[in-house]
Amino acid sequence: MELQRAMAKRRMVRSFAATPIERSRLDRLLDRSRRGPSAGNTSAVSFVVLDEPTLTTAYWDLTLPEPKRSSFRWTQLLDAPAIVLVLTRPLSYVERYAERDKGRAGLGDDLDGWPVPFWWVDAGAVVQNLLLSVVDDGLGACLFGVFDHEEAVKERFRIGADERIVAAIAVGEPLPDEPGRSAGRPRPPLNEVIRRPGPAV
Ligand SMILES: Cc1cc2nc3c(=O)[nH]c(=O)nc-3n(C[C@H](O)[C@H](O)[C@H](O)COP(=O)(O)O)c2cc1C
Repeated sequence: MELQRAMAKRRMVRSFAATPIERSRLDRLLDRSRRGPSAGNTSAVSFVVLDEPTLTTAYWDLTLPEPKRSSFRWTQLLDAPAIVLVLTRPLSYVERYAERDKGRAGLGDDLDGWPVPFWWVDAGAVVQNLLLSVVDDGLGACLFGVFDHEEAVKERFRIGADERIVAAIAVGEPLPDEPGRSAGRPRPPLNEVIRRPGPAV
């Protein structure tokens, strides 16, 4: 029941109070979030936590520099006391699938042969766990892309060259906000989402 309520309530929040989140509270949320499914239990999803004003300011200075900031609609997104960068290391999956028990999958040579790159799948599960845990804990979150700032962000926050930033997630006490631009798009009807193929022809 609790889970259903958190799932129903979850939405992206784009306005935050600057009130800091206790480090132990944030760590607890991240610990819960990492308990996602993981291909071969590779578990190569990790977090870089920016939870000090100097760090969040540095993030915004890199990704939303002053000239662009004046036209930015969600100014109180920048007040979020924490930004969690969700990382994955694709090569860890190749290494894991080169192990003997995974040999039959034939995915242990390089990054190219993966029909579904499982590193993104694992990271998506962790992201959703985090978004739900945040709601469950009475906080709010907004996920946003790092887009073409990935290399600069990696360099600034000492992230390995072989790691990828899947998403940035702002976390904090939610304030009333304007809905995002995509919020008006209706979710497709259930009968389009759930399909059951008829008997084989
Ligand atoms: C992969 C991904 C990337 C997203 N990127 C952004 C983004 O850059 N900026 C933003 O404001 N919202 C971003 N969103 C949030 C979506 O716009 C939002 O999830 C969607 O409109 C549904 O709204 P809801 O999450 O509030 O239910 C992103 C969501 C996902 C899953």
